[in-house]
Amino acid sequence: MAYKNIDDLATREKTEIDADGGSFAIRGDICYCTPAGDFVTAKDGYAVSICGVSAGVFASLPEEYRDIPVEDYSGKLIIPGLVDLHIHAPQFAFRGTEMDLELMTWLEHKTFPEEARYSDLAYAERAYSVFAEAMRKGATTHALIFATKHKEATELLMRLMENTGLISYVGKVNMDREAPAALREESAERSAEDTALWIEAVLGKYKRTYPILTPRFIPCCTHELLEKLRELQERYGLPVQSHLSENQGEVDFVRMLCPESEFYGDAYDNYGLFGSDESAEHRVKTVMAHCVYSTEAEMQRIKENGVFVAHCPASNMNLSSGIAPIRKYLSMGLKMGLGSDVAGGHTDSMLRAVCDAVQVSKLYWRLIDGESKPLTFKEAFRLATLGGGEFFGKVGSLDPGYDFSAVVLDDSLLLYPEDAPIEKRLERSAYAALDSYGIKAKYINGRLTYSN
Ligand code: GUN
Ligand code: FE
Repeated sequence: MAYKNIDDLATREKTEIDADGGSFAIRGDICYCTPAGDFVTAKDGYAVSICGVSAGVFASLPEEYRDIPVEDYSGKLIIPGLVDLHIHAPQFAFRGTEMDLELMTWLEHKTFPEEARYSDLAYAERAYSVFAEAMRKGATTHALIFATKHKEATELLMRLMENTGLISYVGKVNMDREAPAALREESAERSAEDTALWIEAVLGKYKRTYPILTPRFIPCCTHELLEKLRELQERYGLPVQSHLSENQGEVDFVRMLCPESEFYGDAYDNYGLFGSDESAEHRVKTVMAHCVYSTEAEMQRIKENGVFVAHCPASNMNLSSGIAPIRKYLSMGLKMGLGSDVAGGHTDSMLRAVCDAVQVSKLYWRLIDGESKPLTFKEAFRLATLGGGEFFGKVGSLDPGYDFSAVVLDDSLLLYPEDAPIEKRLERSAYAALDSYGIKAKYINGRLTYSN
């Protein structure tokens, strides 16, 4: 089954998922960002889902919704579901360890050997079940996920993800060079063949779990492979995810491998794997993680082609990569969200990622560019909700017309001597990574997918 482009896919997904979505209200202390740029709070308000789509947030329940059920979370925080634009499922098993290396040595010594284990389906089932369970219980409602090169294990991961209720895109990774034999695909043909078989096996199979093309990064993909991925992209209209300009050594390596490319991102763009300009008939929805060392020309192409930047602050720190110029990207109006990048990032807590984004932006301002104002908490929260949510459609807000995804947080677990306004309660909950242990309930497209 082929979709002409990702927008066809989005329409199809939406009708199916909406069919499940319920009509109800949840009551509590609500906060969210609006597409118009506001940060809205409603003390003891009502967030209304009608057939899985938000009808808005109200101070009291409007007459027309008198008959819908109301779930009472009075005194608890209600926020939109969080969006993780970049996470590696097979790396979840070693998160929080092996943090003393930079990117290329970390890949060689830790990540590649661990990912090679996913040829063993028994191990894959064990490890991916742990990952899926964490996703089910966490505050993330939408995610873009890297698997490994193994198509069977990737299918298994997709089956497990479907049962979590999350909306996710999952990618079988392509890599036919610069990796140990156990993880390197034997040829570009084989990589493309496996990818086509995997796509055929999973396309249209699930309601909320979709395939995404996933060339690992330029150092791991021959030109021949990229050419074949272009063909697959054109045939199936799938979106694309990869890594870009993460580490200085990596960028130098790409310059050597691709002398014909103007800059790193151009090496993807030469094969139609780097977004598409607005006027293009064939759209290539793309997310690139990191963009720490993007040149002006690369930033311009990112903008022209509507590529989403997945900013992964924890990973940038842990792998000593550097700090992405996020203020600049915001002022350029780039499409952007946050990623946990587990296991470059040590946690899947997206509230932690919000705080990390604020903190690294302060270091950038202090150490690199005094003109680059640090991010406010609200700006970073917006990235983790509406910013990444845009990749999925109308996602990341409780404004009317948005998919109804919400997380209820019990911040009474955090002891303070006095109450605070809702936005302060959210901020201190984020700094305490409350989404790691304080989730009361999670709704995705109007379905209760988790409660505690
Ligand atoms: N670049 C290529 N592969 C990876 C990966 O697994 N993690 C990170 N952070 N960067 C990469
Ligand atoms: Fe990554």
